[in-house]
Amino acid sequence: MTLNQPRLNKAVIPVAGLGTRFLPATKATPKEMLPVVDKPAIQYVVEEAVSAGLLDVLMVTGRNKRPLEDHFDRNYELEDLLHRKGDTDRLARVCEPTSLADIHYVRQGDPRGLGHAVLCAASHVGNEPFAVLLGDDLIDPRDLLLARMIEVQARLGGSVVALMEVPLEKIHLYGSAAVRSTAEHGVVGVADLVEKPEPAFAPSTYAVIGRYVLDPEVFGVLAQTAPGRGGEIQLTDALRVLAQQGRVHGVVFGGRRYDTGDRADFLRTTVRLACEREDLGADFRNWLREFVDTELRTPDLVS
Ligand code: UTP
Repeated sequence: MTLNQPRLNKAVIPVAGLGTRFLPATKATPKEMLPVVDKPAIQYVVEEAVSAGLLDVLMVTGRNKRPLEDHFDRNYELEDLLHRKGDTDRLARVCEPTSLADIHYVRQGDPRGLGHAVLCAASHVGNEPFAVLLGDDLIDPRDLLLARMIEVQARLGGSVVALMEVPLEKIHLYGSAAVRSTAEHGVVGVADLVEKPEPAFAPSTYAVIGRYVLDPEVFGVLAQTAPGRGGEIQLTDALRVLAQQGRVHGVVFGGRRYDTGDRADFLRTTVRLACEREDLGADFRNWLREFVDTELRTPDLVS
């Protein structure tokens, strides 16, 4: 980082998608509000941004997203009730999201794609590097990713994507990166990117996951990016242009990541995090062991 460069402090969280994989639950409720144990997924994501030092958070919202704003706002009636009851634990949990960060909102009128959602953040972000965190992608707080990406971006410049190796048959669910190795362990140069390729056309099994640290030059490219796959303006397509100019690096992540926008992964995440919880874990693990040992052994459940 050069001496005059301000420390990166802005996070953009796009939450305007339709969440079709989770219908009908997401008909009137944003998928980012679905509870993982007892906190909405979005709160984990905001907490991650804050732990990486990003205290200015911009959410790109859309229709049906009011509950998100309410979650990070005060609820005086509830707070007053809990206060009068002397329920200080719950009161603290209710107040926690309101004081986490400086949260701003911008609306994406039509959900025209992730790239378009990021473009909606341009005037708030201005001319500084910024982070993008997808609101349905959780990274385990024990596995530092964002701080490492911020550090790499400050040192190497350009934009940084997070890459995870996935099985070839899953690469069509992600952007796939053509990479070249660098002298630094866990950091690669990204030469090309392809959004959701068929396995035969994937440049590698390195998948782009939902964390980015971007140079503001991406806004100019996004403004020129035509709708791509699915008729949406794809962030991957804009990053591809920058990758071909040698302006994109990748941080390879081997830690725990949970895609809460996918039903099966959402269930796995909930079970895993519930097992690890101090207050619930012991009881839940006992029940789970018994469930696996008894009910999952019955012939009609075992395929
Ligand atoms: P997804 O690809 O998960 O799309 O978007 P989606 O519409 O939300 O969900 P499905 O696939 O239909 O179930 C990745 C991220 O980009 C945001 C989403 O909210 C999600 O966090 N997004 C997507 C927007 O903010 N705007 C868009 O137009 C599209």
